[in-house]
Amino acid sequence: MKLDREQRELAIEALNNAPPPSLLEDPIEYIFADHFRQRTLCSVLHEIADGSDPDKKLIMAAIKFIQGDFGLHVRDEEQDLFPTLKKCVSPGDELHNTLNQLNQEHEDDRIDAERIVESLQYYMLEVSRGAVNKELRQLLTRFADNESQHLMTENAIVLPIARSKLTESDLKILGESMAARRGVDMKTVSRC
Ligand SMILES: [Fe+2]
Ligand SMILES: [Fe+2]
Repeated sequence: MKLDREQRELAIEALNNAPPPSLLEDPIEYIFADHFRQRTLCSVLHEIADGSDPDKKLIMAAIKFIQGDFGLHVRDEEQDLFPTLKKCVSPGDELHNTLNQLNQEHEDDRIDAERIVESLQYYMLEVSRGAVNKELRQLLTRFADNESQHLMTENAIVLPIARSKLTESDLKILGESMAARRGVDMKTVSRC
């Protein structure tokens, strides 16, 4: 689907702006909001892959997002959310398999994400006009499709279980850890 001008502006805004720090008081909502931004990234990557002369601002926003907030989000899940959830269910529970599978997908996506950043930076510096090459087009499409599937599993299975299983104490610890990862002092944060 081709993004119109307004959709491109909204996509850039979503990629460039993290959720407000106050949302860290509800860390599952923060993760959900980051998933919206990742779905935006998927649309942007498809747009870059399919464009005859992709928008350079979109490319820059995608590079910045992958290098920054995307990695923070994966660490939120791998280091905090998933281990906390695993403690809430018995070792044989299906959720363990799902979380292990998602961790493996993070690893595969990390490799693709690094290649995407390198290739887009090369495009910006050395090419900067016309469609991206076939290899990069296939890489962008594969990553976006895999990521979309990954987000569906997390939104449909992991986050609802997190909302039902995590205690107030779990959520507080999760939010504080995510805040520390972002250099946010929770004492200075208050919801409007
Ligand atoms: Fe996620
Ligand atoms: Fe994930």
